[in-house]
Amino acid sequence: SDTPLALTPPMGWNNWAHYMCDIDEAKVLANADALVSTGLAAKGYDTVTVDDCWMTKSRDADGDLVTDTRKFPHGMAWLGDHLHAKGLRFGIYQDAGSLTCEGYPGSGAPAGGGADHYARDARLFASWNVDYVKMDGCNLYVPPGTTKERAYRDAYHAVAGALRDSGRDMVLSASAPAYFQQGEWGGSDWHKVLHWVGETGQLWREGRDIKVYNAKAPNTSRWSSVLGNYGYNRWLGRYAGPGNWNDPDFLIAGAPGLSAAESRSQVGLWAMMAAPFILSSQVSQLSPAGLAALGNTDLIALDQDPMGRQGAVVSSNATFDILVRPLANGDRAVAVLNRSGAARDIDVPLGEVGLPGCTADAKDLWNGRRALVGGSLTGRVAAHDTGVWRLSPRGCAGAVPTGQIAGAGAT
Ligand code: GLA
Ligand code: GLA
Repeated sequence: SDTPLALTPPMGWNNWAHYMCDIDEAKVLANADALVSTGLAAKGYDTVTVDDCWMTKSRDADGDLVTDTRKFPHGMAWLGDHLHAKGLRFGIYQDAGSLTCEGYPGSGAPAGGGADHYARDARLFASWNVDYVKMDGCNLYVPPGTTKERAYRDAYHAVAGALRDSGRDMVLSASAPAYFQQGEWGGSDWHKVLHWVGETGQLWREGRDIKVYNAKAPNTSRWSSVLGNYGYNRWLGRYAGPGNWNDPDFLIAGAPGLSAAESRSQVGLWAMMAAPFILSSQVSQLSPAGLAALGNTDLIALDQDPMGRQGAVVSSNATFDILVRPLANGDRAVAVLNRSGAARDIDVPLGEVGLPGCTADAKDLWNGRRALVGGSLTGRVAAHDTGVWRLSPRGCAGAVPTGQIAGAGAT
């Protein structure tokens, strides 16, 4: 239909970074219940997505996907009903290539060519009352004489058309750009894909997977994984807006291997970037500090700001990144990431965040404290933490600047 979807970044939960393929109905429902009992669902975390490995290795005689009933004994329509009864939405994983990343049947044409299953799978998902489809991009067949970029463009447009024709509104999380990323700047094909992917999906992965939980090495560089995904996503604001979101992958705030400060940083940076807020952790085991960060309603409101402008980096060095995000009511959010291993005092001139000559009411979104600031925003940011403030201009020498901030938006 023509209903606009995902006018603010999708929020919810996905099993992948915690459970990977070790997933079943009981685990999905336990996490759904925990979203409700922790209050996260009521705050917007409402889309529960079952990732890869939910199906069997072959389609049925009609060509339909088959749910693995050893994992999901009541089937997917039942699961969707139960999620809907809890006030949640139902998301499912599939792949636009011939096989999913874990080798289950994909929707795309087989290697070597042949018919795809985009329409059939979209109809099946619609019949299960699915609300959200994460369409990955592993194993996508590139026909001879076609570029890889062209093959992904055709495949994802076909997926989007099939979902539209299914008769049910389903948000599409597209993964095409992630299959073109080369290093932090991505490469030219990456940007080509980022230019068209918003015609297909409402959100898209553009890069590496956030580090999955690994019981053998529980502390393996989850912080560097967060910084790495932030690192490429922070430059992509030109592609974002209502109904089109850059997705730097899951929130693992509050999960093992991230400190309280690092958890706050991920939530703060993702909110500044208008990123989807999709948890991937065991919800009942979130650390208290992680749960507080994820449930902070000021941070959620920042992420979900209706204007939908992604924040931009206005300065970056080995210690600090400063980001600014213009908001619908004329406020500006300012974030300061401290990458260093020590607490640091900060002093951010208001001119640097687009408010030269202004005084502003500044609310520290982590502790709720307000102060009237003039000249510069000052404070202290702990090691690996990110300070986040919401500034409401109270008066300026000259007109309050509107629109483009130095460094923000299109380059
Ligand atoms: C890719 C995706 C992950 C997850 C796995 C499943 O790696 O990026 O988010 O969906 O596939 O196999
Ligand atoms: C352009 C911009 C950079 C950065 C890169 C990201 O080159 O000038 O600031 O955004 O794109 O690819």
